Amino acid sequence: MRVTVVDHPLVAHKLSVLRDADTNSPVFRQLTEELVTLLAYEATRGVRVHDVEVTTPVATTTGTGLDKPTPLVVPILRAGLGMLEGMTRLVPTAEVGFLGMARNEQTLEAVTYAERLPDDLTGRQVFVLDPMLATGGTLREAIQFLFARGAEDVTCICLLAAPEGLEALESRLGDEHRVTIVLASIDERLDENGYIVPGLGDAGDRLYGVV
Ligand code: URA
Repeated sequence: MRVTVVDHPLVAHKLSVLRDADTNSPVFRQLTEELVTLLAYEATRGVRVHDVEVTTPVATTTGTGLDKPTPLVVPILRAGLGMLEGMTRLVPTAEVGFLGMARNEQTLEAVTYAERLPDDLTGRQVFVLDPMLATGGTLREAIQFLFARGAEDVTCICLLAAPEGLEALESRLGDEHRVTIVLASIDERLDENGYIVPGLGDAGDRLYGVV
């Protein structure tokens, strides 16, 4: 498993505004999209491409095309939905599938409540969107689910991670070379309620309100 923290002043700035408890939902949504586009630029470095012939107004040259099947983007409902637009802006030809996962607030275990994905993911490069890597339970379930369907590799784009969640994933997927985690920050810790500290609060609530 590979972990990349994107070190860029614009990422750090946008994340700081997201963390601010006074940032309202419309601004939070806008900034989340912008931040994901910056993270996605880094996360898609390994996307598979091939040479194509391009005729410019001046000459014929060799360009780059995205391989087919195109990457599959999987936002984890609900909060991952707030990251989708920022990702598809960068990779407009990507297909989009959905995984609905929630954590049981008592056990903090992930439960899958909805799924809309191709039955066969053989050979597919998959990008999972989930803003908060807290205990790691949701991502572990999602990654196992995608490999069980045949995914070739899985890159998870998150805004924040807790060290505890990364360690939990590492202990289960440490030798798994097909998994990459791309983040804006690794924060200090998890609190007793499973929130990332300092974090940004409940990402779903901040994006969409408390429902
Ligand atoms: N999920 C969130 O939305 N926030 C956290 O801090 C942890 C999990």
